[in-house]
Amino acid sequence: MCGIIGYLGSHEAAPFLVEALKRLEYRGYDSAGIATIQDGRLDRRRAVGKLVNLSDALVYDPLAGKSGIGHTRWATHGAPTEGNAHPHRAGPVAVVHNGIIENFRELRADLASKGIAHQTETDTETVALLANHHLSEGMSPVDAAAATIARLEGAFALVFLFESDDNLLIAARKGPPLAVGHGDGENYVGSDAIALAPLTDRITYLEEGDMAIVTRQSIEIRDANGSLANRPVKTIRIDNTMVDKGGHKHFMGKEIAEQPRVIGEAIRAYMPDGDTIALPDGGFDFTAVDRLTLVACGTAYYACLTAKYWFEQLARLPVEVDVASEFRYREPPIPARTAALFVSQSGETADTLAALRYCEGKASSILAVVNVAESSIARESDLVLPIHAGVEVGVASTKAFTCQLTVLLILALEAARQRGEISPERLADVLSQLRNLPAVIGNALDTDAFAAHVSNELAEAQDVLFLGRGLMFPIAMEGALKMKEISYIHAEAYASGELKHGPIALIDSHVPVVVMAPRDALYDKTVSNMQEVMARGGKVLLISDSAGIEQAGEVWRSITLPRIDPLLTPILYALPAQLLAYHTAIAKGTDVDQPRNLAKSVTVE
Ligand code: F6R
Repeated sequence: MCGIIGYLGSHEAAPFLVEALKRLEYRGYDSAGIATIQDGRLDRRRAVGKLVNLSDALVYDPLAGKSGIGHTRWATHGAPTEGNAHPHRAGPVAVVHNGIIENFRELRADLASKGIAHQTETDTETVALLANHHLSEGMSPVDAAAATIARLEGAFALVFLFESDDNLLIAARKGPPLAVGHGDGENYVGSDAIALAPLTDRITYLEEGDMAIVTRQSIEIRDANGSLANRPVKTIRIDNTMVDKGGHKHFMGKEIAEQPRVIGEAIRAYMPDGDTIALPDGGFDFTAVDRLTLVACGTAYYACLTAKYWFEQLARLPVEVDVASEFRYREPPIPARTAALFVSQSGETADTLAALRYCEGKASSILAVVNVAESSIARESDLVLPIHAGVEVGVASTKAFTCQLTVLLILALEAARQRGEISPERLADVLSQLRNLPAVIGNALDTDAFAAHVSNELAEAQDVLFLGRGLMFPIAMEGALKMKEISYIHAEAYASGELKHGPIALIDSHVPVVVMAPRDALYDKTVSNMQEVMARGGKVLLISDSAGIEQAGEVWRSITLPRIDPLLTPILYALPAQLLAYHTAIAKGTDVDQPRNLAKSVTVE
């Protein structure tokens, strides 16, 4: 959700703030703004819509000053208007915020009783009003910020800028991530290392409840009790090529194309000698647990659903899977000898983090499959299992999903090995096929042109159905999610066997039905369900291997994938699902990388 940046330097702040916001835009893009101090005067510029509108506004009406804050917004309270855009200002205080202030109505009422009125629909303005009120009571900026923060409930990453001091930023974190960057006679604040990368590679992540008092010369961090805290400085390397489009039209296109390489990196990280599995940090004892609880949101949840099949079939380990937003409030009992495993690309998803915290002290261990190794979910887990996908910028997750699947499959194989549920021969066979997977994925990318062709036809549809059985069911769900989120076409996925229990009523000649059916043990059954669709006029797009397509007979359209071991098919079949959504979105002219209403990192519940 929203991206935050703060700059205290020796150069003009505005270009740095805008450049950092560009790198944060994936977090939210319905409005943006910056505030700076020049000659003792606080001023701001804000614009609705994409960041480019703010850049344009700054050309006509520039902002000078060597200290400033910036924000790119994903609206929570209040429509995306210029008035609701950050930074929010009350007199000499400007504030940028990521998160939700849950008690803003009470705070607003309290301020109103003191004759202080709000001007916007946002919760954030209340923070600025409160800080200004404390200043007017005679508090210093630091005390005013601390007194304000103490009254806030909810989740927030905040940065304050005070007109009276152009060498001061105050940052606070409770929930969403926030980091301070260490420069040379300059210091910075940012939502993530990507934003800070052009400024510095030396970063300190704030911990829950921390407040940082930042000047050009110093960074002082106080913990939730107000005591001085010594947080480590980490050196983070972010290659700039990771955050550009590398010649592709969209980040999503680039990230789809990167999959052979990054899946290869994930495989090498977990199979360094090519033949055996080596988990990081001493690994995990799967014989010490009787069950697994897997929790995640969205695409990562579908990775968990796929992993359930793997863990149960390969390792005979019972698995419960839940979406984090349900799990955290359901308060499920966690039996003894249960490991909880959380899957998250960003490692910052608020619901997943809350579910993890629910499991603390209840689960026998907490494992995290994450892309961002420095994320909150990673830091709060007993064992971190990185997916090695590299920075993912496109809002629709692609390479992170297939890397999550790759790591989860390797984990399930390791669990099966430790529990004596897989023969050495079968394990060696699957590992050898895994080593070859990047090449197979590379071949599957050759379906791109045909996927683009079919997508022109899919773009005409109002609704698209996705069907799959077994391991293909979660991939069908992922296909439907991708289609919805970037093409805005209504798409649903069903387990093929469920079709006749209701959804078949939806089938007519206007509804394309994407059937995912590799030639595995369930192929014949899926094909029977496919015939039921065709018998009712449904247009079937069959995704299978060449023998599967031949055996199925005549269908509306088909996409042929290489034949691989059924265990690995979820990773391979994710590709056409991504390509169909991607090209359908292009055909419809939607904003592929920044689809409406969405944001990459969902740090509010
Ligand atoms: C969909 C998508 C989302 C995320 C979900 C969880 O393409 O990207 O559904 O998968 O918001 O995010 P992470 O994995 O960061 O916890």
